Amino acid sequence: MANLPPPLRKAVLTVHVVSAGAWIGIDVLVAVLAALALGDGPDAVRGLALRALAAFVVPPMLTAALVCLATGVLLGLATRWGLVRYWWVAVKLVTTLVLCTLIVVLLRPGMADVGAAGTAVEAGQVPAADVSFLAYPPAVSLTALAVATVLSVYKPWGRVRPGRAAPAGTARGKSRAVPVPARR
Ligand code: HEM
Repeated sequence: MANLPPPLRKAVLTVHVVSAGAWIGIDVLVAVLAALALGDGPDAVRGLALRALAAFVVPPMLTAALVCLATGVLLGLATRWGLVRYWWVAVKLVTTLVLCTLIVVLLRPGMADVGAAGTAVEAGQVPAADVSFLAYPPAVSLTALAVATVLSVYKPWGRVRPGRAAPAGTARGKSRAVPVPARR
């Protein structure tokens, strides 16, 4: 894939960073709602928090995650960073794929039970389903996203296959290699 022209790369990078920030923000909201839902506050507050989690969280979270993934993959493919050329990008790719899978496979299917639990709690009943699992998604996701943000800023660990020279003129490194200048 050809390199993105600089203005386009900056536009994609902006969308990438905004979507990552939105994802983190939604996770913070989930943490607050889960704390309210699992806390020992009034039934009305716990029930409302559960119903809000069930109704509003998954679509924006999944949208932000997929936009972050798509723009990240585009930036990887169309810049010198590559997708699995540098550890910091490869680890972010795996992290994001795992988180997106967890949202689709675990979080989304559980939301029907969470909504029903909210309705039951508001009515002063004991919910049929155990919703104590709600503490884990924001804890896992916020930790992973914080690590991904640190990796993005510090870009540690270098190349996945050390010793390969930087590619010339292409994003994928298929053309001749450029010698890396010695540091003075
Ligand atoms: C897990 C969620 C992610 C977060 C929180 C995140 C965050 C960021 C941030 C803050 C930057 C800006 C760094 C800078 O300009 O110095 C960045 C850049 C970048 N990200 Fe991500 N990212 C995530 C996922 C991904 C994924 C899945 C990929 C691709 C596989 C990816 C590939 C890249 C690349 C290649 C850049 C550098 C772009 C450039 O400078 O041209 N990111 N990311």
